[in-house]
Amino acid sequence: MALLLYVLVLGQLFHRCWAEALDHTAAKCSKIPAPRVPGAKVLSISSALRLNHTEPQSSPILDHTIDNINVCEVNVTLRHTGANDTVSVQTWLPVHQWNKRFVAVGGGAWAAGTGLVSLAEPASQGYAASTTDGGLIGSPYSPELWALNADGSVNMDLLTNFASRSIHDMAIVGKAVTASFYSHAAKYSYWNGCSTGGRQGMVAAQKYPKDFDGVLAGSPAIYWTEYVIAELWPQVVMKAENYFPTQCEYEAIVQAGIAACDGLDKVKDNVITQPSHCKFDPFTVVGKKLQCPSAKEEVVINEKLASIVSKIWDGPRDRHGKSLWYGLEIGASLWNLAETGEANGTRFGKPVFVADGWTRFFVKRDPKFDTASVDTDALVQLFRESRETFDEIIGSANPDLSRFKKSGGKLIMWHGLADQLIFPQGSVRYYEEVKRVLGGSKATLDFFRLFLAPGVDHCGYGPTPGAVPSPFNDLVSWVEKGRAPEKIEAKTLPTSAVQFTRKICRYPLVAKYQGWGDKASSDSYKCMRDC
Ligand SMILES: *[C@@H]1O[C@H](CO)[C@@H](O)[C@H](O)[C@H]1NC(C)=O
Ligand SMILES: *[C@@H]1O[C@H](CO)[C@@H](O)[C@H](O)[C@H]1NC(C)=O
Ligand SMILES: *[C@@H]1O[C@H](CO)[C@@H](O)[C@H](O)[C@H]1NC(C)=O
Ligand SMILES: *[C@@H]1O[C@H](CO)[C@@H](O)[C@H](O)[C@H]1NC(C)=O
Repeated sequence: MALLLYVLVLGQLFHRCWAEALDHTAAKCSKIPAPRVPGAKVLSISSALRLNHTEPQSSPILDHTIDNINVCEVNVTLRHTGANDTVSVQTWLPVHQWNKRFVAVGGGAWAAGTGLVSLAEPASQGYAASTTDGGLIGSPYSPELWALNADGSVNMDLLTNFASRSIHDMAIVGKAVTASFYSHAAKYSYWNGCSTGGRQGMVAAQKYPKDFDGVLAGSPAIYWTEYVIAELWPQVVMKAENYFPTQCEYEAIVQAGIAACDGLDKVKDNVITQPSHCKFDPFTVVGKKLQCPSAKEEVVINEKLASIVSKIWDGPRDRHGKSLWYGLEIGASLWNLAETGEANGTRFGKPVFVADGWTRFFVKRDPKFDTASVDTDALVQLFRESRETFDEIIGSANPDLSRFKKSGGKLIMWHGLADQLIFPQGSVRYYEEVKRVLGGSKATLDFFRLFLAPGVDHCGYGPTPGAVPSPFNDLVSWVEKGRAPEKIEAKTLPTSAVQFTRKICRYPLVAKYQGWGDKASSDSYKCMRDC
């Protein structure tokens, strides 16, 4: 009885304390002052508790529903001096068990950020987290609502926000509201992004080297002015052959390439470990009847298809044979960059939305420009115009990371080797450039490591056969405990037909099977030099 009373009283007390604490938290949340942002005017700030919030699963950004999120939500809008923009930065500050860290979450495709949904996971893990729209309006799939001014010129205010400026705004605003809510600054700050978000992370390291202690950049859209134009090459090739293959034809030939090179690493798992070592010639399957996996149909491979695919894998060249950029790796799906459609019995090419938007709205400044009409000479011209006009603004590939290194920053870049949208060779090229600028491997490995994930598609989005790394915690332990990662432990997606774990080794090391043990277990592999 006495015990029961005791428990009841304690329960009451606890309840009252909890309610008071919540009142106190609510008051604190509602009183966050507007931060000062250099080069901009804060237009508004609003903040309120968001309690017991459920963020539903939303593919590909959030792969599971998260319940019971309790945060102080802070919306800040700002306008840059002399610009006609309204930028929104949204921050979630966990009410319980803040881990003393701040993370800025990057965007994707044409979006500087993907909104509150991208904050759910970090906030549920105790991170104060921010996202920004960069002042851009419309869909992540097209820049048409913001790219051009009324007079037809490029909207440089918003392009600058998308390219770089909004990254720094988010760091300033996010850190400031974090510090005022908790009454002390975050101990560590991070960037986490993939694709456009990966590019933004690289820009942070290049241009705002003091903003983040650690940057995770997945499949980064760097060398933007070049790789985006290179995405049109498959369409140029199809037009030249006047042949527009079906998805089934492409799948069948990619599967033949995987089958030919899967065993080079002594492990048959539908994954090519080193696509650069795969010398599969598509002409060797001309005349053969092959399966296309998803439609469960058979197609006979013809010469035009083989010719198109060999050129896509080789990458864009001018009419004299000079290489302009990389091709897709063998194993990557061709269906995004080489997509086709059919109407009234006629097949035609469908240029991918990133390249189409960039070409029409920025390079050509002509929304009516027909990207599907581009031939080899026009592509060469587009490469030149894109680079000359925009590289300074959005190239995002300055290899001088000395200031980031000097300020103690750590950078993990990773890229899937079966990425169908952004060529992983660009990440390798960037890494090599940094090594050259900073004076070698050791000077680079001290703060910057690249991880190439075999058989993994863009940002690890499924379906994808390879083991998908999620290196964020590796970055945190590098920054906070000084543990430089030699490898990232990865596993296949739950939806994969074949399940395995695998090490993703820091470039240029490669995970090699030891010759004994379970081939499906990461333990049976060692990171070794490629020889
Ligand atoms: C923040 O902005 C979103 C719209 O983007 C809105 O739904 C939400 O209520 C706002 N929150 C606060 C605290 O003002
Ligand atoms: C939290 O929300 C869930 C469903 O959204 C509900 O079932 C639960 O009762 C709520 N809990 C509290 C403490 O309000
Ligand atoms: C400012 O941008 C808005 C659209 O966001 C547009 O309607 C308006 O015309 C612009 N003003 C100027 C002066 O360019
Ligand atoms: C297909 O033919 C119909 C009828 O002639 C026409 O209205 C339509 O625009 C055509 N579609 C395409 C994509 O050419």
